[in-house]
Amino acid sequence: MFGKLIHKIKSQFEPRLATVEPLGETFEVASDQTLLQGALAAGLAFPHHCTVGTCGNCKCRLTRGDVRSLIDASLTLTPAELADGYILACQCLLKSEVSVDVELNDDSEASVPAKCMGTIVATEHLTHDIMKVSAEIDRPMTFRAGQFADIGLPGFARHRSYSFANAPVDGGTRQLEFMVRNVSGGEYTQWLFAQDRRGERFELHGPQGSFWLRPADVPILCVAGGSGMAPLLSILEDCLNKNIERPVAFFFGARQTHDLYCLQQLESIRQQWASEFRFIPVLSEEPEPSAWTGARGMVTQFLDRDYAGFDIDASHAYLCGPPPMIDAALARLQSCGLGTKHIHYDKFLDSRQLEVSKNGVT
Ligand code: FES
Repeated sequence: MFGKLIHKIKSQFEPRLATVEPLGETFEVASDQTLLQGALAAGLAFPHHCTVGTCGNCKCRLTRGDVRSLIDASLTLTPAELADGYILACQCLLKSEVSVDVELNDDSEASVPAKCMGTIVATEHLTHDIMKVSAEIDRPMTFRAGQFADIGLPGFARHRSYSFANAPVDGGTRQLEFMVRNVSGGEYTQWLFAQDRRGERFELHGPQGSFWLRPADVPILCVAGGSGMAPLLSILEDCLNKNIERPVAFFFGARQTHDLYCLQQLESIRQQWASEFRFIPVLSEEPEPSAWTGARGMVTQFLDRDYAGFDIDASHAYLCGPPPMIDAALARLQSCGLGTKHIHYDKFLDSRQLEVSKNGVT
């Protein structure tokens, strides 16, 4: 009996095996390591960002075995994801051998995050509270449309994350664009909006994130709010460059007409698009009366076949914006029968919600 107890205690401290499907990569995870730490130590390009359980980038589906979560994952994962067996790799210790389903990052040298310096070369007010920032970095960067970079400003303790708004270029580009929303109390945005910042230097660490267009022959459903337009514009411009011909429905939620932006760019994309392209702006607080004749309400109310032009459950969805919009869109799309694995999202979290904030909220 004593021997059994010793064996049980010893086995708790033994490393366990984890397998990443569909590639079948197997690696050891020490008893005091999270699944993510074990995967990174084994040299796998496991998607991740915050490492503290808030961004959701490391989510993967547990298909075998048992884990112990260090946090309440329901704060980050949706009920449907939890029901489907999704876990946060950065917050799970292994209780047994496990297998997880996850799409590893492209680990080609060009896509491995690296640090460089950059300079703000131009700024443009797109709306009363959204600014386009054009920058030039000191070396060419290759990224996937939809990804983001961490930006560090001199004198600020923490970095902020911003999605690339322009399309990537084969072989890399030194020209980058970002969209930054001004939020009251946000120290980065207060700095940026306070005066002309052209010529200012910053540090960039990227590319990051696993939000990009998955290859498939199905319609693309985009839903965005606020500065969430940025990564979707990057994806759509990239699709044009690659002659991708999938039908698109792009739903954009804003408060009033003065919150709409990049309309000319979207119209230009629409005209060049080889298949059907619908842009559906939806205003939630446009006063009556006004000249606005488009959709009114919450953008997620309009996610249906009539507006999209295709069956929602036969599409792949890409969502970017504030957490309430993402959560409402997830619930709506799942109620339409769209499976969680075909819904990709990037929540733009602010520093009141996260240590690591995203996309210009602070
Ligand atoms: S890396 Fe795990 S939730 Fe962000």
